[in-house]
Amino acid sequence: MIEARGQWSGRLGFVLAASGSAIGLGNLWKFPYITWQNGGGAFVLVYLLSILLIGLPIMMAEIMIGRRTGKSTIPALQEMGGKGWGLVGVMGVLAGFVILGYYSVIAGWAISSFWECLNWSISGYRAPDSGAFGAFVSNGPLQLALSGAFSLATIGVVWLGVSKGIERVTKILMPMLFVIMLYFLVTVLTMDGASRALSFMFTPNFADLPPLGILEAVGHSFFTLSLGMGLMITYGSYLKKDMSVTKVSGLVVGLDTLVALVATMIMFTIIFSFPGVEEQVGKSTVGMLFITLPNLFYTGMPGGAILGPLFFVLVGFAALTSTISLLEVMVAYFIDGRGMKRSSATMLSGAGTYVSTVFCALSLGAVGWMSSFELFPGKQGVLNTLDHLASNWMLPLGGLFITIFVGWKLDKRLSLEELKLTDDGGQPSIYFKLWRIVIRYVAPAAIIAVIIAVITGKDFS
Ligand code: TRP
Repeated sequence: MIEARGQWSGRLGFVLAASGSAIGLGNLWKFPYITWQNGGGAFVLVYLLSILLIGLPIMMAEIMIGRRTGKSTIPALQEMGGKGWGLVGVMGVLAGFVILGYYSVIAGWAISSFWECLNWSISGYRAPDSGAFGAFVSNGPLQLALSGAFSLATIGVVWLGVSKGIERVTKILMPMLFVIMLYFLVTVLTMDGASRALSFMFTPNFADLPPLGILEAVGHSFFTLSLGMGLMITYGSYLKKDMSVTKVSGLVVGLDTLVALVATMIMFTIIFSFPGVEEQVGKSTVGMLFITLPNLFYTGMPGGAILGPLFFVLVGFAALTSTISLLEVMVAYFIDGRGMKRSSATMLSGAGTYVSTVFCALSLGAVGWMSSFELFPGKQGVLNTLDHLASNWMLPLGGLFITIFVGWKLDKRLSLEELKLTDDGGQPSIYFKLWRIVIRYVAPAAIIAVIIAVITGKDFS
C-alpha cells in the first residue's frame, strides 16, 4: 500500500514547523556570538538587510518550488529542471546529513546543562573548576549518550510523520519557547545591563564592523533561516495550495529574526550586568551559552534558580525542532524518491546519521585522531570540519544554485502564479518586480562574494 503523502493542517502548522526549523542553535548560540565578535550595531544592521534582501527572497523561492511540485528536494528539482538540477538537491540532502551529524552533539549539551542547572537549583550552586567543560566534551561515552538521546528524540518525532509528529510537536514546543523567551525578556529588562545591551545592538557604528563582517552576516542568514539545502522545498511540499507563499515566508523570516534579536538582547543584558564577565566571553565560541551563562544564573541573577534550568529547556526545544527538520529532508527523499515507507526511511536516515554523530561526538578530545584531524586550516576535528564544510561551502553554494534556478531557468509566469504578487489588474506588482531583481542579481552577487571570501580564507562557522 502506498502511504498518503503528509500535509500541514493549515497555515499555523506550517509556520510553526518552518520557524521551528529556522529557530535553533543558530539563533541562541551563534548569532549572539558573532554579533559580539563583529562589534554590535553595524553588524546587526547589515544582518537585518541581508535577511530582508537575500533570506526572504530565497525563502520564497524554496517554498514555492516545494509547493508547486508537491515533492521533496531532489525529486522536486528533477521534475522542474531535469536531472542536472537534481544534483543540487543531492547536495542539499547531503548537507542535511552533515549538519545533523554535528548539530545533535551540541544539542545534547542542552540536556546536560539542564541537569547541571537543575542540580544547582535543588542542592545549591557549586562553581565548576576551569577545566570542567573540557573534561565534559572529551568524555566519549557521555557525549555518545547525550547525542544518542537527542537523536532518538528526533527519530521518534519524524517517525510519526508530518502532521502527527512534526506538526504536533512543533505546535506544543514553539509556543512554549515563545512564552519562555518573553519571560526572560521581561526579567532581563529590569537588570542594569539592559540599556547597554540595547545600545550595543542597535547603535550602528561602522568603524566597529570588520570588513568581512558583511559576508559573515550573509553566510549566517542561510544557516539561521534553514536555507540553501532545500529544506524549505521539502517543508513547502506539504503546504496546501490555497496558502500564500509570500505571507508564510514573511512570517517565518520575521519570527526567526525576532527570536535571534531577543535571544541576543537577553544574553548581552546578563553579560553586561555582571562586572568582569565581558572579558571572559570572547575566549570560546561555545563559551557564551554553555560555560558563562549557566554560572551567571546562580551568581546574582533574580530568579536564577528557575531561569537556569528553564533556559536549557528553551535551548533543547529550539534544537529539537531544528533537528527534526534536518532529518525530515533525508526521510522525505527516501519516501518520495525511493518509494520507501516512512518507518524504514526514518530508521535508515536516523541510524545513518548517528554514525556520523559518533565521529563528531568523539572528536572533542575523546579519540585522538578524530579530534586532531585537520582538513581546513584551523578547523580541528570531525565536528569542526563538518560545521565548516556545511556552513561555508554547502549552504552558500546551494543557495546560489537556487537563485540561478528560480531567477534564470524557471518560467517567470510560474513564479508569478505561485507567489501571487499581482496588482489589481492582474499584472506583476512592484513587489514581484523587486523580488525578480533580487533573486536574479542581488542575491547571487552577494552569495558569490561570500564564496570568494571563503576561498580566500574567511571562515563563517
Ligand atoms: N536554522 C537552524 C538554526 O538556526 C539550523 C538548521 C535547521 C538548518 N535546518 C537547517 C540550517 C537546514 C541549514 C539548513 O539553528
